[in-house]
Amino acid sequence: MVETIEWTPRGVVMIDQTRLPLHEEYVTCRNYQEVATAIRDMIIRGAPAIGVAAAMGVAIGVLHASEAALDSQVDTICQTLAATRPTAVNLFWAIDRMQRLYASLRGQPLDLIRRRLIEEAQLVRQEDIAINRAIGRHGAPLVPDHKTVLTHCNAGALATAGYGTALGVIRAARESGKQIDVFADETRPFLQGARLTVWELQQDGIPTTLITDNMAGHFMKSGRIGCVVVGADRIARNGDVANKIGTYSVAVLARENGVPFFVAAPVSTLDLTLESGDRIPIEQRPASEVTHVFGHPVAPTGTLVQNPAFDVTPARYVTAIVTENGVARAPYEDSLRTIAAPSPR
Ligand code: MRU
Repeated sequence: MVETIEWTPRGVVMIDQTRLPLHEEYVTCRNYQEVATAIRDMIIRGAPAIGVAAAMGVAIGVLHASEAALDSQVDTICQTLAATRPTAVNLFWAIDRMQRLYASLRGQPLDLIRRRLIEEAQLVRQEDIAINRAIGRHGAPLVPDHKTVLTHCNAGALATAGYGTALGVIRAARESGKQIDVFADETRPFLQGARLTVWELQQDGIPTTLITDNMAGHFMKSGRIGCVVVGADRIARNGDVANKIGTYSVAVLARENGVPFFVAAPVSTLDLTLESGDRIPIEQRPASEVTHVFGHPVAPTGTLVQNPAFDVTPARYVTAIVTENGVARAPYEDSLRTIAAPSPR
């Protein structure tokens, strides 16, 4: 499976997701500013992968920081990384984790602080892969056999440190012997489905069919789609789910056609501080992503554009939320609280 992001002696190495699938190229970020740019420009994208990148961004920032006024340098590093993309809560979760570790090490020799922060960032990455495998194990039994799974955007290995959340559920269902195939929404305007999901599943030999976003209703009505599985960027306390723009439409179509709609996400994507999805900040992306396709204009010059990168699916459309700690169902206020802090066995 492809490596999304790695810590190396040369810097933080990421596969360039703006170049796939035509070019398999890697970008090396040698300082925290380059990591921040890579997140903002979507060289790396997907909520858990953004979290791993932010953790490595803090680590590389401190690696190059000087002893003088270290606290304020760490603040600047964290603020720069936090200002990249507003919706995926994993970004803030990872920065917070690194900041808390730094606070616990304050006053120790700088070499030790650097080493511990690098180890922690690598741990965030390793844990993410294990978490995704656990999500897969919990989600696989929910997937109907001998049917097609519809997914939106890319919530796969590329959107995480490896294996994926939504695609992790699909992978685990296949590994458990289920005869399923995948329909991937192309996911306008950035085409994560067409470019990334199809490419990634092809690498694994999982039969995948590309459809345009506006075909989803047609295929759900046909009875072919057994379930929808998507990822999430932030899940509020009441179970409202922010995910790639278009997810809400897919969820409404799924309800209309009696198709289960599953969300697969790690606990780090839960934001239990928000009472509902109305409070989730929605990133607005450049107009050129809508007016242009691969640099070619498809709309008249001067066209007015809206480009929200995410929408919020109300909890009432969500059949279940699959996490590494188990499967949450409505009422989500209760089930998400329990799943976020499972009692020790
Ligand atoms: O704008 P992107 O490509 O970062 O959006 C990604 C998504 O919406 C994913 O579905 C979500 O982050 C979950 S990734 C496991």
